[in-house]
Amino acid sequence: MPRPRRTAVHVRTPATSANLGPGFDALGLALELYDEIEVRLRDDERVVVEVDGEGAGELPQDERHLVVRAMRETFEAAGERLPGLELRCRNRIPHGRGLGSSAAAIVAGVSAATTLLGGGDPETGELDRDRVFQLAADIEGHPDNVAPCVHGGFAIAWRGEKAWRVLSVPPSPRLRPVVCIPGERLSTERARGLLPTSVPHGDAAFSAGRAALLVAAVSGHPELLFEATEDRLHESYRAPAMPASAELIRTLRERDRLAAVVSGAGPTVLVLGHVPDADVETDRERRPVQNSDDLADSIQERTGTGWHIRPLRIDPAGVCISSPRS
Ligand code: HSE
Repeated sequence: MPRPRRTAVHVRTPATSANLGPGFDALGLALELYDEIEVRLRDDERVVVEVDGEGAGELPQDERHLVVRAMRETFEAAGERLPGLELRCRNRIPHGRGLGSSAAAIVAGVSAATTLLGGGDPETGELDRDRVFQLAADIEGHPDNVAPCVHGGFAIAWRGEKAWRVLSVPPSPRLRPVVCIPGERLSTERARGLLPTSVPHGDAAFSAGRAALLVAAVSGHPELLFEATEDRLHESYRAPAMPASAELIRTLRERDRLAAVVSGAGPTVLVLGHVPDADVETDRERRPVQNSDDLADSIQERTGTGWHIRPLRIDPAGVCISSPRS
C-alpha cells in the first residue's frame, strides 16, 4: 500500500433509502441530500472533530465519531496507523430516520482514508469504489445503504461467496421520490431487534415475487410500483415501533394508491411517485419538477404538521471526492 499522497480531502456522500418495500437488505436508492466532510492531516497525533448541522452537539467530537472509526479501520486494513487529523462535518441527512446517515458517515470515512492512502487504485490514484464498498459494508453489516451511497442510483447488493457484490441498475427517469420525515427517531438496531427469526413460507414466496417485480418497476415500469412495493418481511413487524409511519403508509396506499414504504429501518416514509411516460421530456426541462412538488403538497395535506415532506431526486453519482476549498 502506498504512503499517503494527499494531506487533505473533501468527500460528499448521498442519503439513501434501503429496502423499498420487499427488497430487505438488498435494494437501495441514492437521493440528492448530502453530508460533506473535510479531512486534513495534522503534524501531531490529535484527532479534532467539528460537526455542523444534524447531530451537532450530540455526536462525539473525538475518535469515537463514526467517520473517524471508519477511517481508522481503513488505515488499519492497509497496515497503517490512523494519523492525527482534523475532521469537519457538515451534516444534512437526518439521524435515526432511515435515510442512511450511518452509511453516509462510514462511506465518507472509508473514502477519505482510501484517498489519503493514495486512492486505492495504484495505477490511476482514482477512488477504488469496490474497495470502499467492501470495507463500508463490512463495517455497516448490511449492504443496501452502502451500495447506492458508493455507486449512486439504484443498487442491488448481496453477500457473495467471498465478497460483497453490487449491481447498479439505471432507475427510470419517470421516478419521483418523496420522503416524509417525522420528528421521532428509531435506531436501526432496535428496528432489527423486532424482526422474527423466521417467516411463513407463503410470506417469503410473496416477498421474493414482489422483490423481482420491484427491480423491473424501478428500472422501467414505474406504473407497477404500487404492487411491487408490497412487503411481508419487515414492515408489519416494525410497525409497533413507528405507529405514525405505519398509519401514514396505510393511508397513502389505501386512499391514494401511492407506493408508500418504510425507508430503510424507518421511521421515514418513502413514496415512490412517478410521472406518466409522455411527461418525461417536458419534465426534464422544467426544474424544479412540478409533479414531485404537487405530490409533496398532497402528502403534506394528509400528514399535517410534524412531518417534513421533501421531494428528492435520485443521486446518480454516489460518493464524490474533491480537494478542500481552502
Ligand atoms: N435493510 C436495513 C434494515 C436498512 O431494514 O434494517 C437499515 O438502514
